[in-house]
Parts: sequence; structure tokens; C-alpha cells
Amino acid sequence: MAYPKLRKAVFPAAGLGTRFLPATKSIPKEMLCLVDKPLIQYGVEEAVAAGCTEIIIVTGRDKGAMEDHFDSSPELEAALAAKNKQSLLDVVRSVSKLAKTVYTRQAEPLGLGHAVLMAKDIVGDEPFCVLLPDDIVDARVPCLKQMVEAFYETQSSILASEVIEGPAISAYGVLDCTPMPQNPRLLAVKGMVEKPKFEEAPSQNAIIGRYILTPRIFAMIESIKPGASGELQLTDAIKALLQHEKVYGFHYEGKRHDAGDKLGFLKATVEFALKRDDLGPPFREWLKNLPV
Ligand code: G1P
Repeated sequence: MAYPKLRKAVFPAAGLGTRFLPATKSIPKEMLCLVDKPLIQYGVEEAVAAGCTEIIIVTGRDKGAMEDHFDSSPELEAALAAKNKQSLLDVVRSVSKLAKTVYTRQAEPLGLGHAVLMAKDIVGDEPFCVLLPDDIVDARVPCLKQMVEAFYETQSSILASEVIEGPAISAYGVLDCTPMPQNPRLLAVKGMVEKPKFEEAPSQNAIIGRYILTPRIFAMIESIKPGASGELQLTDAIKALLQHEKVYGFHYEGKRHDAGDKLGFLKATVEFALKRDDLGPPFREWLKNLPV
């Protein structure tokens, strides 16, 4: 029997954002902007483009700015309307109309698996997507949309994957996998390890922050013990899922930016600004004259 259509996307967003202090002392890191759009909005737009209609954001303390961002803002809208600023009004309104957005809290930072578990009752017994807001994927066809097609084809959990060379692999969940002959973008997964030592990594195929998961994952999260960093790791739960179901890695087409890292954030900002019709040309000219 085929799974129902994918409708729900979960965004773990309860982290403290320590890599971006002091900015994240009072601003949720998911609200940091690439050019003029918060990181979380890039992810929400990607989920909507992939067909999701319900956005579930797992938040924590001091994350209210995210809720305000996706809500309507009557005072701002009235002020823009009074000044005839129609295009800005459209921008502001479109954000609150993107999708139905619901929030649930993760009271303690017990890991990514635990954050996803917080969405269990809202997701229910259907497959769903998980997007990590730090990972921004710039792609012609949105990354999650590519994955949704692979999900409907395989009827199995799909994990976005990127080849990472060298010791940097230790910052990721890493797949033990073999490419599928009939579809070179798909990887048949045999196992996986969260943040392995470089010498112990089973491959160069890192897991990237886009997942499509079957609902059995919740029972798997409930069954595992704390792993790397003493946290309930989503990677360990997906590994447990492999005992029951097939799981596939997916080499998406596109470029990922690690916007949770300062250098990655800067690179993404420059690339996104250069692509803009309004900012690209003058920004390019200005960059050319920098003494680098
Ligand atoms: C998380 C996951 C890891 C994955 C990574 C992708 O790690 O635990 O498996 O490879 O996201 O960005 P984090 O970056 O939260 O340490």
C-alpha cells in the first residue's frame, strides 16, 4: 500500500545558536538573514515548493521572533497600505500566507532525534519531511522537491546526501551505502554513523539537513539511547529504522551552504546577493574594487 501524500514539514529550531554569539543572544539563529530573508523562511519556502501545507516548528525559549515572522502584522500592513507601498505590502503578506504554521516546544536540548520526537503527535501516522534551517540549498529544482519524487518512487525514507572530502566529514552523519544502478542519484543505505572520526567514516557521503521519514521513525527514536555528544541522535534512529525498512540516500542537484557556520554564512550571503537583479550588478562592481 502506498503512503499518503507528503503534507507536513518539521523544522527543529530550538538550538541555542552558540556558533553565532553574540548575535544570537536575543535573536534566534533561524532569524539571521541572508540578504533580506531569514534562514528559516528559505526552508519554509522550499517545503511549500515541495508540496507541504503544514509547517511544524520545534522551538524553545526566546524564539518568539519566528512566530511573529510567520504571523500577520496588522500595524505594519496598515502603515504600508497608508503609504501606498503595495509591493512591500505584498512581501509582508505573502510570508504569513505561506502555509499553516504550528509550533511545539522542546523544553531541553536533548538532541536532533528528541527535537523531531516533539512533533510526533502533530505529524501522526504519515510520512513527513524534516528540514534543518542551517542548511540552505540553492537549486534549480528545490532540493526537497527532488527528494519528494524519490520518496514517491521508492516509498521509503530519503536522506539528502553530499560528498564531503577529508576530515570535515566528522561534522556529519555519514552513510554506509552503495549507489543504485538504475538511478545514480539514489544510494542504498546499509548503515550510518553520527560524527565519526575521519579514519572511521564509512564513506564520504554525508547526511545533509533534508530528510523524508516514514512515521515508524518515532518508535525508533523512542527506542534508542543517547549517542554522539550524549544526545538522542536522529541518525541512530534512522539506523534502527533500517532493521525494518529500506532507507535511501539521495545526491540532490544543487549547492548547499552551511549557514550555521560564520564562513558558510558569509559565502552564502555574497552568492545570494550576487544573484539578485537589484543588488547583483552594483555589488559585483563594488567587490571588483576590493583590495583582496
Ligand atoms: C545534524 C545531524 C547530522 C547531519 C547534519 C547536517 O548535525 O545530526 O547527522 O549530517 O545535521 O547538517 P548538526 O549539524 O546539528 O551537528
